[in-house]
Amino acid sequence: MKGKVAVVTGSGRGIGREIAVYLAKQGANVVVNVKKRVEDGNETLAEVRKYSNGIMVQADVSTRAGARHIAEETQKEYGQCDILVNNAGLGIGMPFLDSDDRLIEKMVSTNYLSAIYCTQELTKIMPEGGSIIMMASLAGIRPMVSLSLYGSLKAAIIKLTEYLALEFKQKKIRVNSIAPSIVKTKMGESLIDYMHMTEDEYTSKHTLTGSIIYPEEIAKTVDFLVSSPNITGQTIVIDSGQSLIGDLTI
Ligand SMILES: NC(=O)c1ccc[n+]([C@@H]2O[C@H](COP(=O)([O-])OP(=O)(O)OC[C@H]3O[C@@H](n4cnc5c(N)ncnc54)[C@H](OP(=O)(O)O)[C@@H]3O)[C@@H](O)[C@H]2O)c1
Repeated sequence: MKGKVAVVTGSGRGIGREIAVYLAKQGANVVVNVKKRVEDGNETLAEVRKYSNGIMVQADVSTRAGARHIAEETQKEYGQCDILVNNAGLGIGMPFLDSDDRLIEKMVSTNYLSAIYCTQELTKIMPEGGSIIMMASLAGIRPMVSLSLYGSLKAAIIKLTEYLALEFKQKKIRVNSIAPSIVKTKMGESLIDYMHMTEDEYTSKHTLTGSIIYPEEIAKTVDFLVSSPNITGQTIVIDSGQSLIGDLTI
């Protein structure tokens, strides 16, 4: 990891921040990204700089221009990108028929197009041996009530992972994804609220391990995937055993 350059989209808080700081602890130079909340990005950057080097790029990755801007800034600062973590996402529970066009477009662009744009732009400066990690979700594997848009877009991310692993064979770039159930972040907490449950009720009723997932476990898995030269095209499920219980009704 030492000296490698990692771009982590949506790293102003939550899972993205944890991944950015974890990779910095392993010696990577990290490009932190936020859409608008520059203060959040500066906080992550300050953490990153305790361990390694980093820069912060403000860009909306749900647009082509935003993805291109990150690639340009990364190239200017470091000349290349070895690791891309397509983490930015938007998790909103909503009955399918209640979703209006504005929400649909935002969900598609944030949860799916962002990964396409960033992968296209950043692979232009990714050398052989590069690694791409996508943040998928258990909702992309097992359907959950009221997550039809989010879950189907995460399913698309899982398929994109497989297609890109095949297509990037020539480039010697590996592509993998991680599919967690609820992780303790702002998004995870809002999903538990949406289920009208407390965290304890969720973990006791919906998990086998009886414990919530913390962002650090996701960050460690990113590190594991980046450092495993023969894993590609795979999706690692981290779900506290939730998918074995069968009750995924939220
Ligand atoms: N938490 C969970 O339970 C869970 C479970 C499964 C999968 N995931 C996935 O894990 C990833 C991270 O989730 P999280 O829980 O850390 O979410 P979070 O706490 O809501 O944080 C998401 C981050 O992404 C940023 N972001 C959103 N849209 C962006 C855009 N267009 N451009 C740049 N940054 C953008 C947000 O910045 P702003 O504040 O500026 O919008 C925020 O910093 C997502 O892909 C999510 O779908 C989460």
